[in-house]
Amino acid sequence: MKLFLKKYLKLKLKIQYYDYLYYTLNSSIISDYKYDQLCMMLKKLEKENKFEEKLKYTNYNFKKNNFSYLPEIEHKTPMLSLLSGSSIKDFLKYDKMLKKRFFIFNDIEYFCDLKIDGLAISLIYHNGILSHAVTRGNGYSGENVTINIMTISNIPIVLSSPEIPKILDVRGEIYIKKKDFLLLNKISSLHKKKNFSNPRNIASGSLRQKDPEIARKRKLQFIAYSCNFFNSSLNLEKHDKNLFLLKKWGFSICKIFSICKTIHDVIQFYQMVTKIRLDLNYEIDGIVIKVNSKILQKKIGYVEKAPKWAYALKFFSHSVETKVIGIHFSIGRTGLITPIAFLKPVFISGVLIKKVTLYNKKKILELKLHIGDIVKVYRAGDVIPKIEKVLLKKRSITVQKIIFPYYCNICHTKIIYLEQEGLMYCPAGFFCQAQNEKRLLHFVSKNGLYMPGLGLKIIKKLLKKGCVKTPDDFYKLNIQSFEKISGIGIILTKKILNSINSSKIVMLNKFIYALGIFLVGKVVSKNLANFFGSVRNFLNSNYTILCQIEGIGHNIATSIILFLKSKENLKIIYFLKKKLCISSFFSNSFYMKDFSKIWIYQKKFVLSGKFLTMSKEKICTIIEKYGGIVKSYISKNINFLIIGLKYGQKFKQAKSLKITILSEKEFFNNLLKKNVI
Ligand code: IVH
Repeated sequence: MKLFLKKYLKLKLKIQYYDYLYYTLNSSIISDYKYDQLCMMLKKLEKENKFEEKLKYTNYNFKKNNFSYLPEIEHKTPMLSLLSGSSIKDFLKYDKMLKKRFFIFNDIEYFCDLKIDGLAISLIYHNGILSHAVTRGNGYSGENVTINIMTISNIPIVLSSPEIPKILDVRGEIYIKKKDFLLLNKISSLHKKKNFSNPRNIASGSLRQKDPEIARKRKLQFIAYSCNFFNSSLNLEKHDKNLFLLKKWGFSICKIFSICKTIHDVIQFYQMVTKIRLDLNYEIDGIVIKVNSKILQKKIGYVEKAPKWAYALKFFSHSVETKVIGIHFSIGRTGLITPIAFLKPVFISGVLIKKVTLYNKKKILELKLHIGDIVKVYRAGDVIPKIEKVLLKKRSITVQKIIFPYYCNICHTKIIYLEQEGLMYCPAGFFCQAQNEKRLLHFVSKNGLYMPGLGLKIIKKLLKKGCVKTPDDFYKLNIQSFEKISGIGIILTKKILNSINSSKIVMLNKFIYALGIFLVGKVVSKNLANFFGSVRNFLNSNYTILCQIEGIGHNIATSIILFLKSKENLKIIYFLKKKLCISSFFSNSFYMKDFSKIWIYQKKFVLSGKFLTMSKEKICTIIEKYGGIVKSYISKNINFLIIGLKYGQKFKQAKSLKITILSEKEFFNNLLKKNVI
């Protein structure tokens, strides 16, 4: 078995290298014939060793995308951030909240380790062999950085142990040692190049290099902090047991950790770490406290962007006194109104601080803050400025009470208050000027409809000329619309119109997210898309149905209903629904749909070449979603070959077998014509 693995891995790496040269660097050092021969050999090895279809490298849809110009890979489970606080008091509050909410009457056992200041990475192993490495990205998909990850000496490429799960997802942090960071900056200075601002930037910059030699020279390191198993009978009850398994399999784990039976143990660990922090040979910005029991973790669950069973207790910086000179209510993209306190400027750890966010009404009431108060300000986690407390003893008689607004100061719509959460928001959406610009930008952003080329500058100009007011207007733009706008030539106009056109095929979750409904983030959008399966079902929902969906409670349901109640919003959505091809994954949809009448259904497709509209992986996902089957090789059973730029041998093979060949444009035009939503 070991001999096979060595042979397999060597061959796979060789092919990956040629793929990398071809797809990333646009160069080839091997003939097509030799390349095909290598692929055949790999295929034979996979067959002889009975690889499952989906585990075969020669079958992966992302195989070529690994090295394409859009190398994005979806995470098996989202890569989340952490709930955090920067004082022991914050952590005690968190612990109390867990116990109260989940009826826990004893001390919770916590696993504590160090919060490494680096770059989160997910390493995917198939049958114990490193298959790919993906950055956190937007949390749902990230960049494929396998080629650079392979240069990191303490990341094992082959794991040898009898109980390795079929699919293993190891999560951890890539970082650089302090001494290597200093050395790199010295070398940069010698070469009169700009210095790196912090070790995390180096880690992230290195992984994005096209030449892996650069990453190798930067001596990156890896520490694993968690893992997930798929298709495995392994079922460990505690987080620490998982980590020890990882250690056994050859991963480095944090050497400084503690299994804390009580909150006092946690506090002791935190205090110990604050003392040794500067002596460590890598940067940390706090400790991470995780509920050790996996069963309890499951029960506690998640909030929108973070697990509720983990908490980052960050280091706090010293605080400085200053005066609050005014309050401004800033309106965000979703209408959320955030109070900002303006301060008499002060330096804290070398940075001039002029304002601090107060988050919500509740926070102001908790602080008992007035305009004119003297406050203590610190930088949480050494970064974000926060007000620690109001120095009531120093309060003068001239202070003024903070008046919370009743109406939006921009569009004059009545503000909605969520009293329990202390949140306030303007529900006018696209019709509030303060939100509109940001909402339109959000709509066209990568996580929304994705229209590269359309940035804030152009949106501002389009708004000013009245060409765009709401998102449906993007689809009404033509060459003439841009003629009115200064600084946009015909080339850019065509690029923008092209990208607007390409955005017409969109996943339902992205569409919902792009609408920018208050409290509806990526996770909620995904849950809504999975549940409803189509725009029509989503529009027909009601409060009771919404509340049945995972992660949706009173506030989110109310916000969605308010949004859908607006005639103006509905007009926009109906227009978009007509213009776009909005699709969704139906695996666990509440409303299953019959796809048998769609031309793609049960047809076999092969793709060849580079695609411009979206990555090959995404096209495959669309085909599979409509019941089509994607294959890697041409045979007489194939129905369609879709070709992009630089297509290969498959074109000739398909022609000789009289298989229908579709260009990228033809495929998408067909898809749009047969709009299934
Ligand atoms: S546990 C979120 N443990 O901190 C899921 N995270 O600020 C559980 N991080 O994205 C993460 N050191 O990349 C965990 N010992 C540690 C960590 C750690 C650093 C990172 C992680 C996360 C970020 C949140």
